[in-house]
Amino acid sequence: MKFGKKKIKPQIDQEQLELIQNAQRRIKQKKRLYFHFILFLLGAIGLIVSNLALNIGAEITPFEKPWFVSVIILWLCLLIYHFINVFVIDKFMGKAWEKEQLDKLIIKQKTRIEILKNQLEKEDIHIAKSELYNEQLSITPKKEMNSLGKSNITIIVAAGQNNEIGKDNQLIWHLSDDLKRFKQLTSSHYIIMGRKTFESFPKPLPNRTHVVISRQKNYSVPNGVIVVNSIEEAIEKAKNDSQPYIIGGGEIYKQSLKYASKIELTRVHHTFDADTFFPEIDLSIWKETHNEFHKKDKNHNYEFSFITYEHQQKNLKIN
Ligand SMILES: NC(=O)c1ccc[n+]([C@@H]2O[C@H](COP(=O)([O-])OP(=O)(O)OC[C@H]3O[C@@H](n4cnc5c(N)ncnc54)[C@H](OP(=O)(O)O)[C@@H]3O)[C@@H](O)[C@H]2O)c1
Repeated sequence: MKFGKKKIKPQIDQEQLELIQNAQRRIKQKKRLYFHFILFLLGAIGLIVSNLALNIGAEITPFEKPWFVSVIILWLCLLIYHFINVFVIDKFMGKAWEKEQLDKLIIKQKTRIEILKNQLEKEDIHIAKSELYNEQLSITPKKEMNSLGKSNITIIVAAGQNNEIGKDNQLIWHLSDDLKRFKQLTSSHYIIMGRKTFESFPKPLPNRTHVVISRQKNYSVPNGVIVVNSIEEAIEKAKNDSQPYIIGGGEIYKQSLKYASKIELTRVHHTFDADTFFPEIDLSIWKETHNEFHKKDKNHNYEFSFITYEHQQKNLKIN
């Protein structure tokens, strides 16, 4: 590390420096001309005095005139030449200087055009990206958007440390607080599920509208349960609900992640033997907005956390 005063560099660019140098050169030129003119006046007086008053060279009379006349005329010509040189030939600091300035201006403009071109190219990429994003939004079925133009679909899931969610068409753990939370969140709402998850329940869950997805055309269900043949159709059926939930299982989670704006995950902090898994959550598009840890206790064999993730783009209002 260096101590002491930092040397201050002049904040002046090369072009400004050249302009100053040229201006100084010009001032010197004019000063020299002015000095020449004074010298000429004094010289002329001196010549006249020396010839007429002091009689120096009185016998020299070129063109029948005293010699000082010729000398003064010659000197005057020299002075006029000096004047022309400063004010006519070297006008505006010289032709070469003018050309140099013009060339510099052209280079400057060309550089500016290049910078603008680069900016435009970047802007083009940006516009193309937003167009692609808008296109993707318009491809995504309108059904996923509520009346506010936002996706209102929430995925609710409980998953082990390695995303395990079930085995032999059953859950792998019993966590009473998780079931309570599930009940509390989903009650009075539409719950969308795959046929296998529906079959894992002993009977439909009370106070919720079940939408079961199956490819089977005549899949029979108890009264009040809705059967559809696709995820999009399930979302359409739930469009009047302010908060429909997708409740599983593995196949449906995988296919519906793109339609959801929120994930309510119960992360069970343990690894399990499983045959069904939740897809990996892409943290570049899903942002954790809530995290609540629960200890192991007599009603809970495992530690777990309630975590909420929100989708970064679908939560933006679409105009
Ligand atoms: N931990 C949790 O939070 C949680 C939550 C829910 C479920 N689970 C567990 O997950 C397991 C069940 O999940 P899973 O993946 O095996 O089955 P699933 O997703 O519940 O259901 C799969 C079935 O859904 C139908 N289906 C899937 N994609 C479809 C599409 N694009 N169009 C029409 N129908 C479609 C098919 O029914 P058809 O065969 O009738 O055509 C398919 O066999 C169980 O172990 C369950 O306990 C865990």
